[in-house]
Amino acid sequence: MTRHEEIRRSYKELGRIGNLYDGIITRSTLLGKLMDGLIWGLDKELSARWIEDALAPIPADFSGSLLEVPVGTGVLTMPLYASLPEAGITCLDYSADMMENAKKRAAAMGLSHVAFVQGDVGALPFADESFDLVLSLNGFHAFPDKDAAFRETCRVLKPGGIFCGCFYIAGRFARTDWFVRHMYVPKGFFTPPFETEESLKERLRELYSQVEVHSVRAEGIFKCVK
Ligand SMILES: C[S@@+](CC[C@H](N)C(=O)[O-])C[C@H]1O[C@@H](n2cnc3c(N)ncnc32)[C@H](O)[C@@H]1O
Repeated sequence: MTRHEEIRRSYKELGRIGNLYDGIITRSTLLGKLMDGLIWGLDKELSARWIEDALAPIPADFSGSLLEVPVGTGVLTMPLYASLPEAGITCLDYSADMMENAKKRAAAMGLSHVAFVQGDVGALPFADESFDLVLSLNGFHAFPDKDAAFRETCRVLKPGGIFCGCFYIAGRFARTDWFVRHMYVPKGFFTPPFETEESLKERLRELYSQVEVHSVRAEGIFKCVK
């Protein structure tokens, strides 16, 4: 089985228990709080900070074209999109099962300006320079072909456009590194090699004119301008 297939199988299973995933990623369940503390070393304040920092580059009145990849269950972003009714938003994910949760969420919220596309970040089905902003939350630690993912997210962004988001980086918090190696990689949720804060800065500087990277524990948070 290829790594692509392993990842798809893992997220297919997770997509079918989307509520469990949502509780973990938003820290809104007991399991989520336990995992946040034990695995990620995050308390309530730090947990709120990484998502706020990752979404901060998106202007409050954004009305351009936005690509989110991977959207997953959409639990972190559909509430934001509800506040951006003038924007044209496209959400992409490899896993139809994860994305089904996001589609249902968008439909329940009446978000007619949000479209969904199943696909691979390594071969995005969009023309060069299609988007004003590309958002990627917790995806690059999962993607099987990191080079293709960095290349493609940059290719579809317009000159002057913003690329922002977050994902796991190695070497910042030993406990997270241990759990990633022993739990998330074998389960197919994360795929090495992983960036460090320094390697991420270097990689992004090769593609973008402005690059800001910082971390909250093991979450690397970035904002770039093409
Ligand atoms: C940890 S989830 C993150 C979802 C969401 N952004 C969040 O923060 O809750 C990782 C997602 O990456 C998706 N994914 C993995 N490989 C992919 C690929 N090659 N192309 C697009 N999405 C992919 C998985 O299907 C999964 O939904």
